[in-house]
Amino acid sequence: LRYAVAGTTDAEWFLESGRSTIEAMVDLLARHGLDPTDVSPVLDFGCGCGRVLRHGREVGMGELHGTDYDERFVSWCARNLLFARVETNEFVPPTRYASDFFGLTYALSVFTHLSFELQRSWIDELARITRSRGYLILTTHGESYLPRMTAAERREFHMGRAVLRWEQAAGTNLCAVFHPAEYVATHLAPPFEVLEFVPEGARGMPTQDLYLLQLPGG
Ligand SMILES: C[S@@+](CC[C@H](N)C(=O)[O-])C[C@H]1O[C@@H](n2cnc3c(N)ncnc32)[C@H](O)[C@@H]1O
Repeated sequence: LRYAVAGTTDAEWFLESGRSTIEAMVDLLARHGLDPTDVSPVLDFGCGCGRVLRHGREVGMGELHGTDYDERFVSWCARNLLFARVETNEFVPPTRYASDFFGLTYALSVFTHLSFELQRSWIDELARITRSRGYLILTTHGESYLPRMTAAERREFHMGRAVLRWEQAAGTNLCAVFHPAEYVATHLAPPFEVLEFVPEGARGMPTQDLYLLQLPGG
């Protein structure tokens, strides 16, 4: 399972990287005057086998939920992370969560593997289940991934367009998306607004970009 989400079976790395990622999120919230308890309940969308969710209790995130479309991950989390409520979602929205429910949803290395259509429909669904003035934390492949792109892909990226590879494998790590920051602000994030963009800020997930987004007040 660790290999399926992170491409390595190294258990120590898995634990350390999850801790670093949650600390990066806690620091990001703190810069905006937020304590983890302020954003409860929290949803880990695309939680995989709990790399980050498992640390949620240690940092005081309050009521914790996780969801993923892959039943293998969900059943492991449900059996092992007893402090969280973990459910399976369909590959396409909606989820079973009530509207305006979560104070924070986060999607770590999930929008990096979705088709454009799925990105749009999942942002809209996360906006539905997040309460007014609630938060979304996202990670993406940004500028630091330019060396891994082809010349044609780099041209697209420099024109401010997101680059999508292997759309037919959406939902798996084979499908890869690269997001310029301006594209996130103008296309991906709305109706959320970008509060902070941290290039390569997703510690424990080298070298993904980190975004803190907020829904406008109702
Ligand atoms: C690269 S893994 C990251 C897992 C976890 N967020 C982490 O940081 O360790 C991508 C995760 O997104 C999940 N995923 C992809 N498409 C999804 C969808 N449509 N709905 C829910 N989860 C999805 C995958 O099953 C996988 O667990």
